[in-house]
Amino acid sequence: MPLQINPPLADLADDAVAALKSTFDQDATVTAAAPGRVNLIGEHIDYCDGFVMPFAIDRYIVIAATTNDLSVARVSSGDEPPVSIPLREPATPGEPKWANYFRGVIRGFQDRGHTIPGFDATVVSSVPLGAGLSSSAALECAIATLLEGLLDTVLDTREKALLCQKAEHDFAGVPCGIMDQFASAFGQTNKLVLIDCQSGEPDLVPFENPDLTVLIANTKVHHELSDGGYAARRKATEDGLAMLGKDSWRDVTLADVEQAWDRLGDPVNRRSRHVVGEIARTVAAAKALEGNDFEALGPLMSASHDSLRDDFEVSCKELDIMVGIARAIGRSGGVIGARMTGGGFGGSTVTLCESSQAEAIASTLAGEYEKATGIVPEIFASRPSQGAHLI
Ligand code: GLA
Repeated sequence: MPLQINPPLADLADDAVAALKSTFDQDATVTAAAPGRVNLIGEHIDYCDGFVMPFAIDRYIVIAATTNDLSVARVSSGDEPPVSIPLREPATPGEPKWANYFRGVIRGFQDRGHTIPGFDATVVSSVPLGAGLSSSAALECAIATLLEGLLDTVLDTREKALLCQKAEHDFAGVPCGIMDQFASAFGQTNKLVLIDCQSGEPDLVPFENPDLTVLIANTKVHHELSDGGYAARRKATEDGLAMLGKDSWRDVTLADVEQAWDRLGDPVNRRSRHVVGEIARTVAAAKALEGNDFEALGPLMSASHDSLRDDFEVSCKELDIMVGIARAIGRSGGVIGARMTGGGFGGSTVTLCESSQAEAIASTLAGEYEKATGIVPEIFASRPSQGAHLI
């Protein structure tokens, strides 16, 4: 099975420009792109002062736009009918929900004193939706980049990512951490975005070994993060930290959690064990990757998945099946490590493998997964790519 080729960014940009013409009869003057992300390791610890290791993937959301003479933003996406967002007043959440990403990012600029000119915009995407690959962060970062272009201004990258995160909190109702927006905003070709979520500093780590391939397998199963599962996990970690009497998860050891096990109670004790373990695993994985120590990296990815499945309980049957197939292929078949990636409750797995075996591995993942579940997955290879930018 040939690995699915990711659509070239230039083609997406052409599609967005054509959509602006057909929907609004307008020629684009600004076109912005922002990528989704995949996370190699460090899951559900970006809101716990942990370390995370995502990269921006070569799948993008692209928006083509131009100003209009109205004091409204008219925005459209795919088959959705255009939505009008008034710009004379501060934006507030509304219907339809997908337009809240526009409203939220517009509000972030308004709160910084910007007056947004009326504009028409069309959105196209090659980031699979609801696949745990941060299509929402990609949309937010693409909108923010578009507004920078329309306003002829440039925000500090960190500030831009935080503005987008606030839009996700206040307008999409997901109390996410900083990983997705940082990966989409700071991503660079051939670089991982290793983030210290305590200091909020991203470190761009080279990842360009042609012998390594990252396979993303979308299980095509999707459970909404905003249905409460994500918020409940975040709340449990906050409760755990308070019960442990610490200011930061970086000051908590596994021994601290084990000593307080009964007092923390279930599930907070298991959630806490995940956080402490995952922080340590991510630090170890960064070191292993730096030293090309794949024998160390694989077990760390496996342990991360098991902890997310058993202690954090954000995996699901389909993710476990996909990871199980990769594990069964094993090191002798070219698999270095595999785990679920992103928020969980469905979505995608990430498999790090030897490039020479990548096609065979993708084919086994697809065939065995379909046999086990009846679902045809979407599997593609991805490399670290350029973060949000104007085209
Ligand atoms: C979602 C959130 C991120 C992060 C991951 C889990 O993608 O948006 O902030 O918490 O889940 O690692």
